[in-house]
Amino acid sequence: MAISLNELLERNRDWSDKERAADPAYFSRLVAQQNPEFLWIGCADSRVPANEIIGLAPGEVFVHRNVANVVAHSDLNCLSVMQYAVDVLQVRHILVVGHYGCGGVRAALEDIRVGLADNWLRHVQDVRDKYRLWLRGIDDAALRADRLCELNVVEQALNVSESTVVRDAWARGQDVAVHGWIYGLADGLVRELGADIGREGESFEVYEAAVATIMQRT
Ligand code: CO
Repeated sequence: MAISLNELLERNRDWSDKERAADPAYFSRLVAQQNPEFLWIGCADSRVPANEIIGLAPGEVFVHRNVANVVAHSDLNCLSVMQYAVDVLQVRHILVVGHYGCGGVRAALEDIRVGLADNWLRHVQDVRDKYRLWLRGIDDAALRADRLCELNVVEQALNVSESTVVRDAWARGQDVAVHGWIYGLADGLVRELGADIGREGESFEVYEAAVATIMQRT
């Protein structure tokens, strides 16, 4: 069913009316400040909306989304979001959230050419290549893709923890932790992947344990 732009604008007015009816100060409070405790780094996939999944209102989660929830060390966009979230907003938790059935991860896994995005998905292929022997041993194609979705989350969580932004925050004693989650499109539930990194020096230990857990489950 096609939705017209006028319909979207109408829905927007309805939403604004509804929020103000429930709480007259709702928007004026948001204008004054945003005070999120969470940074969500997730996939751009339209089926994975950050606020809805974790039940948070506007102002409560700072969000960065890209194809296949990649955290590349030279990506100025993602680094700028992390720096602002950690240094200025002082978020307490950075959630790296992948999802099962990720088209980007599947394209990376199976060398499906999609265009310019192939270059971006090289980052996911780096993860695939790192674990290629193990992945090759999984006969079921859907299961293999799911495992790469999980490994990709853990890898990107490690990248967050190794970024200058997070390491500098830990060095000055700031309380911020990184977490790796994966979301199931089929049931709407988030699973923890054991990639919880809360301080300098534990990144690789946590990373290796999380990878080992993923491998044991298959
Ligand atoms: Co995706």
